[in-house]
Amino acid sequence: MKATFHGHACFLLEGDGKRVVIDPFFTGNPAAVIGPDKLPKLDAILLSHGHGDHLGDAIALAKRDTATIVATYELAQFCGDHGATIHAMHIGGAHQFPFGRVKLVPAFHGGRVDGDPTGKYTTNPCGVVVGLGGKTVYHTGDTALTLEMQLLEGRVDLMLVPIGDNYTMGVEDAVRAVGFVKPKIVIPMHYNTWDVIRADPRAFQKGVGTQAQVVILAPGESYQLS
Ligand code: NI
Ligand code: MN
Repeated sequence: MKATFHGHACFLLEGDGKRVVIDPFFTGNPAAVIGPDKLPKLDAILLSHGHGDHLGDAIALAKRDTATIVATYELAQFCGDHGATIHAMHIGGAHQFPFGRVKLVPAFHGGRVDGDPTGKYTTNPCGVVVGLGGKTVYHTGDTALTLEMQLLEGRVDLMLVPIGDNYTMGVEDAVRAVGFVKPKIVIPMHYNTWDVIRADPRAFQKGVGTQAQVVILAPGESYQLS
């Protein structure tokens, strides 16, 4: 299974000939080094919440590839009402897709859907646990540190965790989150996209110490999980 970081909270996961992207924020993302047009054909698009820096290019990519958007019910409805193929789920539920298994888990954050002036699609944000290519990946989404993370202890190969502070956990809480989940590998995200979320991934790496292997990826870089 290969994970490619595309800046901010966007990751492409590839394994067993399947390909999914999480939170595909390319257009307008100052940290992205490619445009969405350079993204290979997708099987699915997984969304943590509807804020613009996560929903991003999801609907356009879903239409381009006839890929399925997987999200909480209300956010999925928003995408469906804008012409995307969708699969609606909700927090606590899991589903086996052709590409792998997805479970939505709690995240503490805002739930508004950017691009929805009516407010009728407002929903809970979530984290995404996806099994792909024989590995389990936990993308926390935008969230505070929460005890719910302990429920995933020992079940995660790769954790993707925000360290940028202000809107999400900062370095200190992200280190504690790693202690809760005990993943084999952790990649920091949601930092240095803008000045307000400036953070030092080396400080995070130092804080985690021997609890997990910290892999720091620059946008465009990949990590292969063996
Ligand atoms: Ni957000
Ligand atoms: Mn965000």
